[in-house]
This record gives sequence, structure tokens and C-alpha cells, in this order.
Amino acid sequence: MVEKVTLSVIKADVGGYVGHSSIHPVLLEEAQRHLEAAKGDGIIVDFHVTRVGDDLELIMTHRKGVDDPEVHHLAWRTFEECIRVAKSLKLYGAGQDLLSDAFSGNVKGMGPGVAEMEFVERESEPVLIFMADKTSAGAWNMPLYKMFADPFNTAGLVISPKMHEGFSFEVHDVKEHKRIVFHCPEEIYDLLLFIGAPGRYIIKAVYHKGTGEIGAVSSTQRLALIAGRYVGKDDPVCIVRCQGEFPAVGEALEPFSMPHIVEGWMRGSHFGPLMPVSVPQSNPTRFDGPPRVVALGFQLADGRLIGPRDMFDDPSYDEARRLCNVVAEHLRRHGPFEPQRLPLEAMEYTTMPQVMERFRNRFEDLGD
Ligand code: 13P
Ligand code: 13P
Ligand code: MG
Ligand code: MG
Repeated sequence: MVEKVTLSVIKADVGGYVGHSSIHPVLLEEAQRHLEAAKGDGIIVDFHVTRVGDDLELIMTHRKGVDDPEVHHLAWRTFEECIRVAKSLKLYGAGQDLLSDAFSGNVKGMGPGVAEMEFVERESEPVLIFMADKTSAGAWNMPLYKMFADPFNTAGLVISPKMHEGFSFEVHDVKEHKRIVFHCPEEIYDLLLFIGAPGRYIIKAVYHKGTGEIGAVSSTQRLALIAGRYVGKDDPVCIVRCQGEFPAVGEALEPFSMPHIVEGWMRGSHFGPLMPVSVPQSNPTRFDGPPRVVALGFQLADGRLIGPRDMFDDPSYDEARRLCNVVAEHLRRHGPFEPQRLPLEAMEYTTMPQVMERFRNRFEDLGD
């Protein structure tokens, strides 16, 4: 039997530097040390430590399948040790994403974001890892739809015999904790009915309709729903396999040429455009934003991560970044008004209801 490889991306905010704008280099070094040791011990095959904004990202390959307790424990311990260092430097919000003190076998539901997939490596296996800061799970809905279902984005859907049949989308209802699968292109209108509301219906994974092979997986953890209060944004991740029966690398990157509006930004309470940037430029600073997305590309070789290439480090995204700044400026001028601020329902998970509570007794009946 051919040995499968598992690609796991597990992330957490272990402490911001300065404020929520970036991460201190010593935290990356600390994580690097832990994963190096785990590689030596044979727990993982290979790894790459990186960051987007203030989020620490552990990209790992191994042979243990998804939801493996040993790999999840490794990520958890790494976060704990980084938090210890972050606390010694009094970095901001150190440990905000670890919602429990006790690890119970899987980091899911405990704060960190997770995207994992297991597959047999193809003759050549290009993968892209998308990582975002200052936004929530669900931010991948529009890009994933464009990559795997929109012929105006992905030429291969029309002209490649390997892709023409289409893809199946697994969508999670994160409020009711349910899942549904839509087969596209025949069900694209049905799919859009749900994923157009990315705060609740989130694309978890995409599969090739003919082969059943997994093409993409995203992190769907919503911190506010887990904690029941505001503890920072989810800052999600997403893995996409490219070429052959999947979108070409350029087709997978193309959706980000249109900076779509996502929820997050300042205090996780505002709408803003998602700016594609290189890793060094992923320091959301203006009004703690605008939200950022980075993409690292790797070729897998027997589980080894050959790379990364910093995919948005390319002048062809300059116009997207410029448009992003124009849109950000326009939204910013709305200040405390919607639609710069999120609608009331979403603000439930912020500190705003506590302030509103003070005025409860001052409301009088209109009496008519
Ligand atoms: P494949 O080689 O994966 O078929 O992709 C063709 C291509 O040229 C993409 O830009
Ligand atoms: P993070 O979720 O990236 O920590 O940002 C939180 C925040 O409140 C930014 O203003
Ligand atoms: Mg933070
Ligand atoms: Mg963050």
C-alpha cells in the first residue's frame, strides 16, 4: 500500500508585538526549536514555522493521519512554551487563544485553528497554505468558491478534462454543528444560498467529484462560539492542492486579486477588505488592519516541504493592495456606523452589550 502523507496546519495567537500588529521573532525561534526536536524524534517528517500578523503558524507533515493526538499535543505544547516566553516579555494578549489549561487529545474546540488533510502524494504535489489575520473563519468561502466553481476565475473548469466534471463542497453550519455536501456545478445556486453567509456556513473541504480526492480544507473554528465571548478573531488557515485535477497555482491565487470584504479588523468588530501580502508585510497596523492574507507555496517530496515560496510577494498584487487601501479608507470614514461596524447580531460577541446594558433602565415605554 502507498504510504499517505498528512499535512497539518495548526495556529494560535500566542502573544502580539506590538499590540496585535505582529509577532516577536523569539516566539518563532521558540516554535522552531520545538518542531526541530519533534522532527528528530520522528513525530513529524518536516515542518515550517511562520506567521501572519500576530498569529503563529505551524505547518507540519507526518504519517499519522488527521486528528492525531501526538501531533496535536506537539502543537499544544509548542504554543504553551511560546506563551511562557511571550509572558516573560509581557507581549500583548499572550495566550489569548488557548481557552483551556488542560489538553485533552485534540486542539479542536480549545482555541487554536486547525486545517489538516491526508492523501497519497502525486508525482508532483504543489500545495498552497493560505493564512489570514484580523478576520474570521468563513473568509475563505468566496475564494474557495472562485477557485473550485467559478469558470471566470478558473479556466481549468472549462478547458481541462481533469477538472470539467466539477467539485463537491462540504459546508459546515457552525451554529447548529451540522454538515452538508453540495455537488457543483449543478448545485452552485444552492451552495451560494448558504456560503454567502460566511459567519454561519463555512466551506470546510472541497473534493474532486470524479476521484473523491481532497483538494482543499479550511479551519472552521470560531473563537467567539467556543468561548461565548470576544477573545480575538479566528484568523483562519486553508490548504489547497494545485495542478492536475485541481486548480493551477495561479488559479488558486487569482481570487485574492479582488480584495473581498471580511469581518474582523479593529477589535474583531468591523468589516474590511482582505489584503494579499508577503509574510514580511503581514503587520496589520492601520486601525489594526486592514485584514491580511499570506500564501506560502511548497512542493511536497516524500513528505518533505520543499519551499516555501512567498506567493503574494509579487507586484501583480500591487493593484489589489491599492484597491484595498482605497476601500479601507472609504469604510473607515463610517467610523462607529454600520457597515464599517458589524451588525448588532455579530456584536453580541464583543464587549458592546456590556456598555449597552448600562442604559437598559433608561429606556421608557412609548406607551401607544
Ligand atoms: P497542469 O500542468 O497542472 O495541467 O496545469 C497547466 C497549466 O499550465 C497551469 O497554468
Ligand atoms: P487578533 O485576533 O489578531 O488578536 O486581533 C484582535 C484585535 O482586537 C485587533 O484589534
Ligand atoms: Mg492578537
Ligand atoms: Mg491575529
